[in-house]
Formats: sequence, structure tokens, C-alpha cells
Amino acid sequence: MNENLNVEQNNTSIKKAVKKVNIEQESSNLLTNNVIIEGFEPYFIDTNFSLYLGDCLSLLKRIPDNSINVIFADPPYFLSGGGITCSSGKMVSVNKASWDTQMHIQEIHSFNKDWLSECQRILKKDGTIWISGTFHNIYSVGLGLQELGYKILNNITWYKSNPPPNLSCRYFTHSTETILWASKNKKSKHYFNYAFMKELNNGKQMRDVWEFPVINKKEKIHGKHPTQKPKKLLERIILASSEEGDVILDPFNGSGTTGIAANELKRKYIGIDITEEYLDITIKRFNNIQHSFL
Ligand SMILES: C[S@@+](CC[C@H](N)C(=O)[O-])C[C@H]1O[C@@H](n2cnc3c(N)ncnc32)[C@H](O)[C@@H]1O
Repeated sequence: MNENLNVEQNNTSIKKAVKKVNIEQESSNLLTNNVIIEGFEPYFIDTNFSLYLGDCLSLLKRIPDNSINVIFADPPYFLSGGGITCSSGKMVSVNKASWDTQMHIQEIHSFNKDWLSECQRILKKDGTIWISGTFHNIYSVGLGLQELGYKILNNITWYKSNPPPNLSCRYFTHSTETILWASKNKKSKHYFNYAFMKELNNGKQMRDVWEFPVINKKEKIHGKHPTQKPKKLLERIILASSEEGDVILDPFNGSGTTGIAANELKRKYIGIDITEEYLDITIKRFNNIQHSFL
């Protein structure tokens, strides 16, 4: 791959040196090797790493068919309904942000079907998608996957070893999230790094219950995102389902956990988010990693 770096001034509000990379475009493929979405100015771009500000549905529509190896999506759970929860030992509102406000289940399902459908179109024929959620949204996501003809491969349970207590004492302590893994369709021959997963699990087949603590504060030093995922979770997902050089996309980038893990593991990355401040956190995180993939 020939790459000529031309550093030029970025005219967005963020003062960034943008490295524009001229590389051969894949034939009949608008998405270049350097993860550019044709027709949209990236919010931030570096070699094999790009961020787009906007509604993912509009942006996904501009990505060519069959061009992405792996998608990780952590969509709104729609759980912000005015309740309370416990954070760092304090009682706080459960409300995360306006994008997470509770909606009628039909509206949630229609939203999920729309972006899942675009994701299916852009996945390569053997590509896979991972979606995280809780009971607030995951049944809609699962139904959407089935209605669209994806093949569900696994139902991963992320077991949180140190969940916050349930302050109301009217429910069991919430200590899990679900991550669904699915391939584009029933014919897909998906990639699974079985041997490495087994090695990670001390030589035993890895199961679908993964134990990780909730996010450590140290991972939030570049800014706070209300639903940031632990990087270790994304590392496992990326290592299990992709190879070096593959293109990973996250339509709900947030603070960029997927992108940071992807870059460190030598994968290409496209992140999309509707909230500018979260992309700014991502850029700070990106600028503080050791770029082994430049
Ligand atoms: C659950 S968070 C993702 C957190 C991320 N996994 C992380 O580790 O930081 C969901 C994100 O989706 C974004 N979002 C909500 N609706 C969106 C839309 N229609 N298009 C793009 N992004 C959207 C929000 O701004 C939020 O950052």
C-alpha cells in the first residue's frame, strides 16, 4: 500500500493537523484503504483511523456494500427514564444523556432495524457484528437480527465482577450485559480465532460468559463518557473476530474504546458519533496511545 502523507490544516473547530493519505482506491469501492467515507468530511483522520460526526444512519448509507470486516455497536440502551443508580458510592440519576431517553418499544425497534439493516449491507460476506445491550434494548436488537436474516453466532454474557449495588433493594443487583455476535447471513463463513481464545483461557475452550470488572477510572482520564466500555472487553472482541489490517467500524463510537483497541491491535478503524464532545475525548485518547500502526 503506497501512502503519501500531506499534513494540512484542518478547518474544523478542533485544531488538528490532518494527515491526508493518498492511497489507491479499491476498484468500485468508495471506501479507501484509509477508511474515508466518500462525501463526508471526517471530523478527524489519521492513518487507518477516522472519526465522523453525525447521525450514523446517514453516514452508514454512504459506505459501500461488502466493505467492512467487523462492526461493534454499543447503541443507546434507552434506559434514561428518571430513576436512580449508584455511581462511585453515590446515589445519582440513572439518566445518561438525551440520546438515551426512554422511548416506546416500537420506536426503539424501528431505530434498531434501520441501523442494523445498513450494517448488514456494508459487512463483507463473511463479516460479523457485535452488539451490546441490556434488557432495555437487547431483545429488540436480537429480533431485528433475526428479521433481517443475520445468523446469530453467540450470546455473550459480560459478567461484571464489581457491579454497583442496587439502591432500591427491590431488584437483584444488575451485574450483566449481553453482547450478541452475528454474521451477515446464514451462508457466511465467519472468522473466529478459536485457538487464541483457548490460549487466553488457559488451554480450555472459551465459554460465552466473560468476566470483566466495570470500567476503571484510569480509563477515563481523557474525559468522561457516561457509558464507556472497558478496553479489555473490546480487545477480546477484536482479537476473536478479526485479523491485522481488517476494517473495524463502530456506528456509536462514544469515547472511542473500539477505535483505541483496534488501533493498538493494528486494525483499521471508522468511528461515528452524533456527539462532538465524545469524539474530542476519542481524539485525546488516540493521541495518547503508542501508534504501532502508522
Ligand atoms: C452507549 S454509547 C457508546 C459508548 C462507547 N462504546 C464507549 O466505549 O465510549 C452510545 C453512543 O451513541 C451515540 N449516538 C446516539 N445516537 C446516535 C446516532 N443516531 N448516530 C450516531 N451516534 C449516536 C451517543 O452520542 C453515544 O456516544
